[in-house]
Amino acid sequence: MDDIISALEKRRENARLGGGQRRIDIQHGKGKLSARERLDVLLDPGSFEEYDMFVTQRCNDFGMADQDIPGDGVVIGWGTINSRMVYVYSQDFTVFGGSLSETHARKICKILDLAVQNGAPVIGLNDSGGARIQEGVDSLGGYAEVFWRNVQASGAVPQISLIMGPCAGGAVYSPAMTDFIYMVRDTSYMFVTGPDVVKTVTNEIVTAEELGGATTHTQKSSVADAAFDNDIEALLEVRRLVDYLPLSAREKAPRVAVNDTVERVEMSLNSLIPDNANTPYDMMEVIEKISDEGSFLEIQKEHAGNIITGFMRLDGETIGVVANQPMVLAGCLDINSSKKAARFVRFCDCFNIPILTLVDVPGFLPGTAQEYGGIIKHGAKLLFAYAEATVPKVTLITRKAYGGAYDVMASKHIRADVNYAWPTAEIAVMGAKGAVEIIYRSELGDKEKIARRTADYEKRFANPFVAAERGFIDDVILPHNSRKRLIRAFSTLKGKRAEGPPKKHNNIPL
Ligand code: HXC
Repeated sequence: MDDIISALEKRRENARLGGGQRRIDIQHGKGKLSARERLDVLLDPGSFEEYDMFVTQRCNDFGMADQDIPGDGVVIGWGTINSRMVYVYSQDFTVFGGSLSETHARKICKILDLAVQNGAPVIGLNDSGGARIQEGVDSLGGYAEVFWRNVQASGAVPQISLIMGPCAGGAVYSPAMTDFIYMVRDTSYMFVTGPDVVKTVTNEIVTAEELGGATTHTQKSSVADAAFDNDIEALLEVRRLVDYLPLSAREKAPRVAVNDTVERVEMSLNSLIPDNANTPYDMMEVIEKISDEGSFLEIQKEHAGNIITGFMRLDGETIGVVANQPMVLAGCLDINSSKKAARFVRFCDCFNIPILTLVDVPGFLPGTAQEYGGIIKHGAKLLFAYAEATVPKVTLITRKAYGGAYDVMASKHIRADVNYAWPTAEIAVMGAKGAVEIIYRSELGDKEKIARRTADYEKRFANPFVAAERGFIDDVILPHNSRKRLIRAFSTLKGKRAEGPPKKHNNIPL
């Protein structure tokens, strides 16, 4: 019996070495952890249970017949993050460059199937040279099996991708269909075609980092949601993210104990809005002052700064926040911010996370670049996302809510549940100056008259009361009381039930 046990131990030890110590050393030399070391950082100590450690590849072509490395380049299984179950796969670059064979794909599929069946998130650590070149179509089929499962899992369980090395070709499409992508700066990249192909086809000379590094994808393309300096930082941030999320769409997000009170007042919020309506202020200050202390986790921080998205806690409950940021483009909605916020709202709605919307929006960004780029369709994404979301929705207008953007930003009319405004709110078709210039065009030569007309318009519309008189705003609240009022509003919505008409699925303007 002892012999059998020590033989098993030996097999395990051999499997744990993956492609061998030399290749692990090369991985370390690049500043990267090995596939297993990454799981040690991601999961609670001692919680990882591995499956399919002894699986080997089946290809006999191109000298592969005797290349059976146990595990075949991906470590799979489950473990816990702060005691909550997650399924994981971690590609092992030391085994054929982490490339995806038929059996490697089958292992990832096993994890996705179990996650959906048992209701737990999937976290994929990607570090791979792409399709296993020796396998041809078996590898391509393997990828497609993974893609199909990503789609089945979408909206059923949270899916999180970490890009921790190369991720190229069709391989990018599995992460692209997951809910969040985190990258590691300088050691990871994602692109459909690499720099060499780009040069051949378009004559552009570009480095891998410029083409698909973490900066490119967090700032320009918005393919990735965040980037971190090294493997450890990225993995720890995924642990933090998971703490905000439910295990599946069948559950609610966990409530955590907090070191803050519901009644906390923030007197400084009473003076946050500048006297001049065109002077910006930092919406992040509102977020930080109303949320449970230190609880805000921003998503897509580097992209479309005119809208803020992220998770906060209110009295320990996870809340998704969407907020216009007057510091960037005066908080206007444009193509990028509409897409960013729409995707975030849809994520929250999939996973039962209530949404808080903080509004200070002067409208949609004008201009040919926006119109030619399709702001109509992209802006409609956000409108659509809010209108279809059935999770509790609470809205607070701090200052401007002008025009179509008022409707879009979780107005009462598209079924927000509780709508509040600060006394500084201005809810109108547009700002007073623009309005007067249109409706009193014939008087533009008379400066005095125009000033009087502008003052009249401001008096009539630069306030929240016209909307409040109609019940479009449920109450005008004191800024310093916002935290308490918002927590109480969300508490009334815990039993909310809302369902749309029966249909196969909707047709969001993609
Ligand atoms: C088999 C691969 C491999 C692959 C790397 N290796 N990629 N083996 N299939 N796709 C092996 C190498 O032979 C090498 O083996 C080891 O992994 C490490 O690779 P290196 O090249 O030494 O590492 P590095 O210099 O860091 O370069 C990494 C790399 C490069 C940039 C990823 O290996 C590379 O360009 N690989 C090919 C990428 C590619 O074209 N993939 C196919 C994409 S198309 P040894 O034994 O020497 O250690 C695709 C289609 C998917 O993925 C479609 C889905 C729909």
